[in-house]
Amino acid sequence: MTETSTNDEVRRLEDLWAGQHGDEYVDRNFDAYSKRGPWWHKMIAQTRPTRVLEVGCNVGGNLRYIAKEAPDAQIYGIDINRKALGLVREIVPEGNFMREHASELPFRDGWFDFVFTMGVLIHQPDDSLETVMSEIVRVSRRYVMAGEVYSAERNSIPYRGIPESFIGRDYGGIYQRVAPELTLVDTGEMGKDEDFDTLRYWLFEKK
Ligand SMILES: C[S@@+](CC[C@H](N)C(=O)[O-])C[C@H]1O[C@@H](n2cnc3c(N)ncnc32)[C@H](O)[C@@H]1O
Repeated sequence: MTETSTNDEVRRLEDLWAGQHGDEYVDRNFDAYSKRGPWWHKMIAQTRPTRVLEVGCNVGGNLRYIAKEAPDAQIYGIDINRKALGLVREIVPEGNFMREHASELPFRDGWFDFVFTMGVLIHQPDDSLETVMSEIVRVSRRYVMAGEVYSAERNSIPYRGIPESFIGRDYGGIYQRVAPELTLVDTGEMGKDEDFDTLRYWLFEKK
């Protein structure tokens, strides 16, 4: 693949989330996060973060619970969709929110102790996936977590008629290849009963 087509593919998916598709996602899912609290209660009890970043935070369906469970923690979220950012600033007023690209995080190495994605790596093209993961690992000094759609082999799943925009992969395996300093400390399934898609999570510690 040439450099130009690489950039085209990254731009296609970023434009999708920044534009009408991303705005419609916000409208469709605005009320869809009410049952996520118990899952985050356990995760925060396990990790006790003091400075957290969610990459692709949307309207704060995760960060609203982290802010409750870890009231002294500094909360950060980045996203590419302006509508989502406008809403999350109202929903999680104690947070710091910025419009940024997942592939270029504007933070110092090790600035956070917990950095995660939830249903965001599935929307990254092959060309930028490892860059996004490396950035996430770079800005965390301790925990890296991914909640994503697992597939042992790369599996592009039809999504609202848009080709190559939702990809199941072995995200845990890819993280360990991209960042061998990560040690897996917990993994499991999450699902509709908790207001998540059917996802697998991987919690890594940098050691
Ligand atoms: C499926 S939503 C998941 C939202 C949230 N993490 C959750 O669990 O509810 C994906 C989010 O990632 C954002 N996103 C996708 N690609 C991105 C990129 N390359 N950089 C920044 N944000 C991105 C989208 O705008 C959207 O808000």
